[in-house]
Amino acid sequence: MSLAGPGFGLWDEFHRLVLFGLTGNYVQNRTIKGAEMKILVTGGAGFIGSHVVDAYVQAGHDVVVVDDLSTGKKENVHPRARLYQVDIRRPELDKVFAVEKPDIVNHHAAKANVRESLAQPVFYADVNILGSLNLLELCRKHAVKKFIFISTGGAVYGEPVYLPADETHPIQPLDAYGASKAAFEHYFPPYRSNYGLSFTILRYANVYGPRQDPYGEAGVVAIFAGRMLHGEQAVINGSGEQERDFVYVGDAARANILALDRGDGKVYNIGTGVGTSINDVFARLKAATGYVGTDVHGPPKAGEVFKIYLDVDKAACELDWRPVVGLEEGLRLTVEYFRSQS
Ligand SMILES: NC(=O)c1ccc[n+]([C@@H]2O[C@H](COP(=O)([O-])OP(=O)(O)OC[C@H]3O[C@@H](n4cnc5c(N)ncnc54)[C@H](O)[C@@H]3O)[C@@H](O)[C@H]2O)c1
Repeated sequence: MSLAGPGFGLWDEFHRLVLFGLTGNYVQNRTIKGAEMKILVTGGAGFIGSHVVDAYVQAGHDVVVVDDLSTGKKENVHPRARLYQVDIRRPELDKVFAVEKPDIVNHHAAKANVRESLAQPVFYADVNILGSLNLLELCRKHAVKKFIFISTGGAVYGEPVYLPADETHPIQPLDAYGASKAAFEHYFPPYRSNYGLSFTILRYANVYGPRQDPYGEAGVVAIFAGRMLHGEQAVINGSGEQERDFVYVGDAARANILALDRGDGKVYNIGTGVGTSINDVFARLKAATGYVGTDVHGPPKAGEVFKIYLDVDKAACELDWRPVVGLEEGLRLTVEYFRSQS
């Protein structure tokens, strides 16, 4: 484990060009109230967290990133954010809080692979529950004002009993990843009532966009786009009739801006309200990439929800959040990004 940051002698400065100039979208129609804030983003070197960091920096905030770089990358981190390479479970995190004194903690760091979680449930509980609890305790100790927790609308509702699933839908996860996220949501009301820690929980649908890992096990858009652009066969698991709610990463990042000063004590779905089949995604990406192969189907994956899409009316009413990037446009931007990388 290494701790990189000012005051620790191992500060590792890095810079990168912002390859993708969409960040202006994140703050549209929104003026941040009040003064600049110090925001600590865990998982800020990862796919979604790094877009959230960009959005916060663009909005004028002072941003600190905590990430162990287990799946995240230094190059993803905005040059104006400070990166501390540390595991959220480690006691050294106390020093980061003591030095940085964040006003807000935005918690994206997690183990987030459904199938892996079934194989390693204890590890998932260790990172996603105990690691998160370590953060909550540090928030209490260092008088953090608000905690924004990233949960999953794709996994906490299990196989939905109605669609679109709203925030009052029964919590019935089918895997240890969803169970760990659902379990941790329960810690917030007691920390709010006993210690005055404000919180907002965002339950993301299937987020896609630039910087998603095309070589990972999850993230069908990135995996298909990556393979198709390399002329390799993209394999659809099962019939391809399974449906997901695909929300563009810039839209997800914008919800994190709005949650800075709204939605205290509340949980919100962040999605589009629309289900799209994997076959449909395959066809759209085939057109966007110019891929010439046909669809090939493999066996369905165990433990996966068949159909899920989220009701997002609550976020629209209370956070004034709505997705603005449609699927066609989002897939085009994603393919453009992956093309620029290869
Ligand atoms: N991608 C999606 O569609 C989706 C959907 C719902 C919820 N989420 C949630 O969004 C968050 C970000 O997911 P992502 O898709 O960007 O994944 P990601 O793997 O790109 O990001 C996770 C980040 O957390 C870091 N991390 C992991 N374990 C850590 C630890 N112990 N200490 C410190 N850092 C650690 C990783 O290095 C990585 O940078 C996660 O909490 C995930 O559960 C993602």
